[in-house]
Amino acid sequence: MFQHPAARAIHDERMNMSETASPSRNPAAPPAQPTSRRVFLLRLGILLNAIAAAIFAVPVLGYLASPMRKFAWLSWISLGPLEHFPEHQTRLATYRNPYTKPWDGMTANIPCWVRREAGDTFMVFAINCTHLGCPVRWFQESGLFMCPCHGGVFYSDGKRASGPPPRGLYQYRHKVENGRLWIKAGELPTLGEPLA
Ligand code: FES
Repeated sequence: MFQHPAARAIHDERMNMSETASPSRNPAAPPAQPTSRRVFLLRLGILLNAIAAAIFAVPVLGYLASPMRKFAWLSWISLGPLEHFPEHQTRLATYRNPYTKPWDGMTANIPCWVRREAGDTFMVFAINCTHLGCPVRWFQESGLFMCPCHGGVFYSDGKRASGPPPRGLYQYRHKVENGRLWIKAGELPTLGEPLA
């Protein structure tokens, strides 16, 4: 059938436009990227990044909060009435660590040495040797603390006398109140914090 060239051109142009508007009908056109898959991958990436950030944030937050926990552990604990500690004598005392778990049992009972000079003048020593931490013993006859592990010796005021310990015994903060001796406990003294 004869068709005028102008009418034929208009027909061809319409056909092209309709093919451009709906590319899915063109089998040669590449398949469109599914939008839902792209969104899913984006959300998955955000989720994984959030999990990684949380994993890194937990130890940092724990470090920042550690001073608050430290002060929560520390508390004043009574070692008993003053009559338990005769003047110019050294006595073994025990307190219950305030920072304990129910399953700690007897291990939460912490011994310490109490030296009463006169009146309300006390010194309270951690029992652990400042070399490698063995419990030191008090010998009334010689007036010395001695460590059974490597021969460390300390004077009655806790100062180092001889042996491998690098320094004197650690001491607890203490006070006398209401006729009792109290120590600030909850944390053992260490090299970094020699006075608990
Ligand atoms: S642990 Fe006391 S001297 Fe070594």
